[in-house]
Amino acid sequence: MKIIVCENYQEMSSRAAEIIADLVKAKPSCVLGLATGSTPVGMYRELIAKTAAGEISFRDVTTYNLDEYYPIAPTHEQSYRYFMNENLFSHIDIDPERTFVPNGLTENPEEEGAAYDAAIEAAGGIDLQVLGIGQNGHIAFNEPDEALIAGTHITALTEDTIDANSRFFASRDDVPTRAFTMGIGSIMKAKKIILLANGANKHAAIAQMLDDKITTACPATFLKAHADVYLICDTAAYNG
Ligand code: GLP
Repeated sequence: MKIIVCENYQEMSSRAAEIIADLVKAKPSCVLGLATGSTPVGMYRELIAKTAAGEISFRDVTTYNLDEYYPIAPTHEQSYRYFMNENLFSHIDIDPERTFVPNGLTENPEEEGAAYDAAIEAAGGIDLQVLGIGQNGHIAFNEPDEALIAGTHITALTEDTIDANSRFFASRDDVPTRAFTMGIGSIMKAKKIILLANGANKHAAIAQMLDDKITTACPATFLKAHADVYLICDTAAYNG
Protein backbone atom coordinates (compact mmCIF):
# COMPACT_ATOMS: atom_id res chain seq x y z
CA MET A 1 0.00 0.00 0.00
CA LYS A 2 1.40 3.37 -1.01
CA ILE A 3 0.64 6.10 1.53
CA ILE A 4 0.26 9.79 0.75
CA VAL A 5 -0.20 11.93 3.86
CA CYS A 6 -1.62 15.36 3.07
CA GLU A 7 -1.70 18.53 5.15
CA ASN A 8 -5.46 18.84 5.02
CA TYR A 9 -8.75 17.85 3.38
CA GLN A 10 -8.23 20.15 0.40
CA GLU A 11 -4.85 18.65 -0.46
CA MET A 12 -6.25 15.12 -0.06
CA SER A 13 -9.11 15.99 -2.40
CA SER A 14 -6.78 17.55 -5.02
CA ARG A 15 -4.35 14.62 -5.00
CA ALA A 16 -7.18 12.13 -5.47
CA ALA A 17 -8.80 14.21 -8.23
CA GLU A 18 -5.45 14.41 -10.06
CA ILE A 19 -5.13 10.62 -10.09
CA ILE A 20 -8.64 10.30 -11.53
CA ALA A 21 -8.07 13.10 -14.05
CA ASP A 22 -4.84 11.47 -15.23
CA LEU A 23 -6.68 8.19 -15.80
CA VAL A 24 -9.57 9.87 -17.64
CA LYS A 25 -7.08 11.65 -19.91
CA ALA A 26 -5.09 8.48 -20.60
CA LYS A 27 -8.18 6.29 -21.04
CA PRO A 28 -11.29 8.37 -21.89
CA SER A 29 -13.51 5.26 -21.82
CA CYS A 30 -12.32 4.11 -18.40
CA VAL A 31 -14.56 2.48 -15.78
CA LEU A 32 -14.58 4.21 -12.38
CA GLY A 33 -15.80 2.74 -9.12
CA LEU A 34 -17.24 5.56 -7.01
CA ALA A 35 -18.01 6.09 -3.34
CA THR A 36 -20.38 8.27 -1.35
CA GLY A 37 -20.05 9.78 2.12
CA SER A 38 -18.64 13.14 3.12
CA THR A 39 -15.02 12.15 2.37
CA PRO A 40 -15.06 12.22 -1.47
CA VAL A 41 -17.16 15.39 -1.81
CA GLY A 42 -14.09 17.66 -2.13
CA MET A 43 -12.59 15.35 -4.75
CA TYR A 44 -15.85 15.47 -6.72
CA ARG A 45 -15.77 19.28 -6.51
CA GLU A 46 -12.27 19.26 -8.02
CA LEU A 47 -13.39 16.93 -10.82
CA ILE A 48 -16.34 19.23 -11.56
CA ALA A 49 -13.93 22.19 -11.79
CA LYS A 50 -11.56 20.29 -14.08
CA THR A 51 -14.48 19.37 -16.35
CA ALA A 52 -15.73 22.98 -16.42
CA ALA A 53 -12.22 24.13 -17.32
CA GLY A 54 -12.14 21.69 -20.25
CA GLU A 55 -9.23 19.77 -18.74
CA ILE A 56 -11.12 16.46 -18.73
CA SER A 57 -14.31 15.00 -20.17
CA PHE A 58 -16.47 12.21 -18.75
CA ARG A 59 -18.30 11.72 -22.06
CA ASP A 60 -17.10 8.14 -22.50
CA VAL A 61 -16.57 7.23 -18.83
CA THR A 62 -18.67 4.54 -17.12
CA THR A 63 -19.18 4.53 -13.34
CA TYR A 64 -20.29 1.91 -10.84
CA ASN A 65 -21.07 2.96 -7.30
CA LEU A 66 -20.13 0.83 -4.34
CA ASP A 67 -23.36 0.72 -2.45
CA GLU A 68 -26.90 1.92 -1.79
CA TYR A 69 -29.23 1.77 1.18
CA TYR A 70 -31.97 -0.87 1.06
CA PRO A 71 -34.79 -0.32 0.67
CA ILE A 72 -34.65 3.27 -0.57
CA ALA A 73 -36.00 5.10 -3.61
CA PRO A 74 -33.47 6.76 -5.96
CA THR A 75 -35.36 10.03 -5.45
CA HIS A 76 -34.93 9.92 -1.66
CA GLU A 77 -32.58 12.74 -0.61
CA GLN A 78 -30.42 10.33 1.39
CA SER A 79 -30.17 7.70 -1.32
CA TYR A 80 -26.71 7.28 -2.76
CA ARG A 81 -28.14 7.69 -6.28
CA TYR A 82 -29.44 11.13 -5.27
CA PHE A 83 -26.10 11.94 -3.62
CA MET A 84 -24.16 11.08 -6.78
CA ASN A 85 -26.46 13.10 -9.00
CA GLU A 86 -26.19 16.10 -6.67
CA ASN A 87 -22.47 15.92 -5.94
CA LEU A 88 -21.09 14.85 -9.31
CA PHE A 89 -23.16 13.51 -12.19
CA SER A 90 -25.41 16.51 -12.82
CA HIS A 91 -22.38 18.83 -12.92
CA ILE A 92 -20.23 16.93 -15.44
CA ASP A 93 -20.66 15.81 -19.03
CA ILE A 94 -21.22 12.14 -18.19
CA ASP A 95 -23.94 10.13 -19.96
CA PRO A 96 -26.45 9.33 -17.16
CA GLU A 97 -27.01 5.96 -18.84
CA ARG A 98 -23.43 5.07 -18.02
CA THR A 99 -23.77 5.76 -14.29
CA PHE A 100 -24.72 2.74 -12.21
CA VAL A 101 -25.75 2.57 -8.56
CA PRO A 102 -27.14 -0.62 -6.99
CA ASN A 103 -30.94 -0.62 -7.15
CA GLY A 104 -32.22 0.22 -3.67
CA LEU A 105 -35.70 -0.99 -4.59
CA THR A 106 -34.90 -4.36 -6.10
CA GLU A 107 -37.20 -7.24 -5.28
CA ASN A 108 -34.57 -9.71 -6.30
CA PRO A 109 -31.37 -8.81 -4.45
CA GLU A 110 -29.55 -12.07 -5.14
CA GLU A 111 -30.04 -11.89 -8.88
CA GLU A 112 -29.32 -8.18 -9.03
CA GLY A 113 -26.14 -8.56 -6.99
CA ALA A 114 -24.80 -11.16 -9.38
CA ALA A 115 -25.95 -9.08 -12.36
CA TYR A 116 -24.14 -6.00 -10.98
CA ASP A 117 -20.85 -7.90 -10.75
CA ALA A 118 -21.39 -9.42 -14.20
CA ALA A 119 -22.07 -5.97 -15.69
CA ILE A 120 -18.82 -4.65 -14.21
CA GLU A 121 -16.91 -7.55 -15.73
CA ALA A 122 -18.64 -7.07 -19.10
CA ALA A 123 -17.61 -3.40 -19.03
CA GLY A 124 -14.00 -4.54 -18.73
CA GLY A 125 -13.68 -4.34 -14.95
CA ILE A 126 -13.09 -1.31 -12.77
CA ASP A 127 -9.95 0.61 -13.71
CA LEU A 128 -9.95 2.73 -10.57
CA GLN A 129 -12.00 2.27 -7.42
CA VAL A 130 -12.45 5.13 -4.95
CA LEU A 131 -13.10 4.12 -1.34
CA GLY A 132 -13.81 5.81 1.94
CA ILE A 133 -13.56 4.01 5.26
CA GLY A 134 -16.05 3.67 8.10
CA GLN A 135 -14.99 4.40 11.67
CA ASN A 136 -15.33 0.66 12.29
CA GLY A 137 -13.04 -0.22 9.36
CA HIS A 138 -15.82 -1.00 6.88
CA ILE A 139 -15.37 -0.39 3.18
CA ALA A 140 -18.51 0.22 1.13
CA PHE A 141 -20.98 -1.54 3.45
CA ASN A 142 -18.79 -4.56 4.16
CA GLU A 143 -19.14 -4.48 7.92
CA PRO A 144 -16.80 -6.19 10.41
CA ASP A 145 -18.06 -9.75 10.81
CA GLU A 146 -16.95 -13.36 11.24
CA ALA A 147 -17.01 -13.83 7.49
CA LEU A 148 -17.20 -11.51 4.49
CA ILE A 149 -19.07 -12.03 1.23
CA ALA A 150 -17.17 -11.80 -2.04
CA GLY A 151 -19.83 -10.56 -4.45
CA THR A 152 -22.39 -7.74 -4.46
CA HIS A 153 -25.09 -8.50 -1.90
CA ILE A 154 -27.59 -7.15 0.63
CA THR A 155 -26.24 -6.77 4.14
CA ALA A 156 -27.39 -5.66 7.58
CA LEU A 157 -25.77 -2.46 8.87
CA THR A 158 -24.13 -2.53 12.29
CA GLU A 159 -25.43 -0.32 15.10
CA ASP A 160 -22.16 1.70 14.82
CA THR A 161 -22.80 2.44 11.17
CA ILE A 162 -26.45 3.33 11.75
CA ASP A 163 -25.27 5.74 14.48
CA ALA A 164 -22.56 7.25 12.26
CA ASN A 165 -24.91 7.71 9.30
CA SER A 166 -27.88 8.98 11.32
CA ARG A 167 -26.41 12.50 11.06
CA PHE A 168 -27.75 12.65 7.51
CA PHE A 169 -31.31 11.57 8.40
CA ALA A 170 -34.09 13.36 10.29
CA SER A 171 -33.85 10.74 13.04
CA ARG A 172 -31.96 7.53 13.77
CA ASP A 173 -35.16 5.56 13.12
CA ASP A 174 -35.16 6.80 9.55
CA VAL A 175 -31.79 5.20 8.71
CA PRO A 176 -32.32 2.03 6.65
CA THR A 177 -30.97 -1.00 8.52
CA ARG A 178 -29.81 -2.77 5.38
CA ALA A 179 -27.82 -1.91 2.27
CA PHE A 180 -26.78 -3.24 -1.11
CA THR A 181 -23.00 -3.35 -1.33
CA MET A 182 -20.26 -4.52 -3.61
CA GLY A 183 -18.53 -7.38 -1.86
CA ILE A 184 -14.92 -7.48 -0.83
CA GLY A 185 -14.17 -9.64 -3.89
CA SER A 186 -15.87 -7.17 -6.25
CA ILE A 187 -13.75 -4.38 -4.76
CA MET A 188 -10.49 -6.33 -4.84
CA LYS A 189 -10.93 -7.00 -8.58
CA ALA A 190 -10.44 -3.29 -9.35
CA LYS A 191 -7.15 -2.67 -11.15
CA LYS A 192 -6.27 0.25 -8.91
CA ILE A 193 -7.78 1.50 -5.64
CA ILE A 194 -7.56 4.82 -3.84
CA LEU A 195 -8.70 4.88 -0.24
CA LEU A 196 -9.46 8.33 1.17
CA ALA A 197 -9.61 9.20 4.84
CA ASN A 198 -9.66 12.51 6.67
CA GLY A 199 -10.19 13.62 10.23
CA ALA A 200 -9.15 12.27 13.61
CA ASN A 201 -12.33 10.18 13.83
CA LYS A 202 -10.84 7.93 11.12
CA HIS A 203 -7.48 7.48 12.85
CA ALA A 204 -8.37 4.29 14.75
CA ALA A 205 -9.66 2.61 11.57
CA ILE A 206 -6.60 3.67 9.56
CA ALA A 207 -4.20 2.56 12.32
CA GLN A 208 -5.96 -0.80 12.62
CA MET A 209 -5.90 -1.27 8.86
CA LEU A 210 -2.17 -0.55 8.69
CA ASP A 211 -1.13 -2.41 11.83
CA ASP A 212 -3.40 -5.41 12.01
CA LYS A 213 -3.16 -8.70 10.17
CA ILE A 214 -5.76 -9.23 7.43
CA THR A 215 -8.95 -9.84 9.36
CA THR A 216 -12.69 -9.77 8.72
CA ALA A 217 -12.91 -7.77 11.97
CA CYS A 218 -11.52 -4.83 9.94
CA PRO A 219 -12.57 -5.29 6.29
CA ALA A 220 -10.19 -2.53 5.12
CA THR A 221 -7.23 -4.79 6.03
CA PHE A 222 -8.02 -6.85 2.90
CA LEU A 223 -6.76 -3.93 0.83
CA LYS A 224 -3.25 -4.82 1.97
CA ALA A 225 -3.47 -7.89 -0.29
CA HIS A 226 -4.10 -5.72 -3.38
CA ALA A 227 -1.12 -4.87 -5.59
CA ASP A 228 -2.03 -1.26 -6.43
CA VAL A 229 -3.60 0.67 -3.56
CA TYR A 230 -3.01 4.26 -2.54
CA LEU A 231 -4.05 5.48 0.88
CA ILE A 232 -4.53 9.24 0.56
CA CYS A 233 -5.25 10.75 3.94
CA ASP A 234 -4.75 13.88 5.99
CA THR A 235 -2.42 14.16 8.99
CA ALA A 236 -5.35 13.90 11.43
CA ALA A 237 -6.44 10.51 10.05
CA TYR A 238 -2.85 9.30 9.88
CA ASN A 239 -1.53 10.54 13.22
CA GLY A 240 -4.69 10.99 15.27
C1 GLP B 1 -20.76 4.96 4.53
C2 GLP B 1 -20.46 4.38 3.14
C3 GLP B 1 -18.99 4.15 2.92
C4 GLP B 1 -18.20 5.35 3.38
C5 GLP B 1 -18.40 5.56 4.85
C6 GLP B 1 -17.64 6.75 5.40
O1 GLP B 1 -21.14 4.03 5.47
N1 GLP B 1 -21.16 3.18 2.87
O2 GLP B 1 -18.75 3.87 1.53
O3 GLP B 1 -16.84 5.17 3.09
O4 GLP B 1 -19.78 5.75 5.11
O5 GLP B 1 -18.39 7.92 5.25
P1 GLP B 1 -17.82 9.39 5.45
O6 GLP B 1 -16.97 9.64 4.25
O7 GLP B 1 -19.02 10.27 5.48
O8 GLP B 1 -17.05 9.38 6.70
